[in-house]
Amino acid sequence: MSKYVDYDKYEELLKKRLSKKRFQHSMNVAEESFRLAEKYGADKQRCYLAGMLHDIMKEELPEKLKQYVMDSGLSPDPAEIAAKSLWHGIAGGYYIREELGIDDEEIISAVRYHTVGCARMTVMEKIVFLADMISEDRHYKDIDKMRKYCYEDLDVAMSVALIYLLNSVCGRCGAVPASTFEAYNYYLKFNKNKEKL
Ligand SMILES: [Fe+2]
Ligand SMILES: [Fe+2]
Repeated sequence: MSKYVDYDKYEELLKKRLSKKRFQHSMNVAEESFRLAEKYGADKQRCYLAGMLHDIMKEELPEKLKQYVMDSGLSPDPAEIAAKSLWHGIAGGYYIREELGIDDEEIISAVRYHTVGCARMTVMEKIVFLADMISEDRHYKDIDKMRKYCYEDLDVAMSVALIYLLNSVCGRCGAVPASTFEAYNYYLKFNKNKEKL
C-alpha cells in the first residue's frame, strides 16, 4: 500500500486537526518510527504512517471521542472507558478505519494500543508505542537511557517503558487497563537484567 499513500493529504489533515505543537509531535513520532523500522527491518512507510496518525484524535471533543470509543468494536476495557486520556487511541483506530478508509489492521492496532500497550505486540505496534516515548520533542529524566534501550532491543525497551508507564499511572492513582497489565507481565521475561529508568 505504501507506494500509493498520499502522505501530504494526511499531513494537511493533521495540521487541521491538531495544535502546532501536537502536529510537530506527530511528525516527530513518524520520523522516529521510520528510524526504528529501519533498525529492526520493519516496513518503514507503514510504520511512518502509523506514527504520523497515532494522535490524530488527541484534540477531538470528549463527547465525540467517547462515542467513537463505544462504536469502535476495538474492545475498550472498563479502565479505558473510565480514563479520558486513553480515549484518543481507540478513537484514533476507529477514525482512521472508518473516516480515512485505512484497512491495514496492523496500523489500526498500532494506533489503538499506542497509549496502553498489550501482550505480544507486532514489531510495528512496539515501534509506534516506543517512538511516542522517545520522539524528539520528549523531555524527561533518563530519556537518553530509554532511547538507548529502544535501539538495542525492542522487547527489553517495551518492558522498561511499561514499568515506567505503570509507575506513573499508579503514582497518580489512575486505573490500569487489563491489556497494560498483560503487556507488563508478558515483556517482563525479556528484561533479564531488571532494567528500568
Ligand atoms: Fe497519544
Ligand atoms: Fe503521542
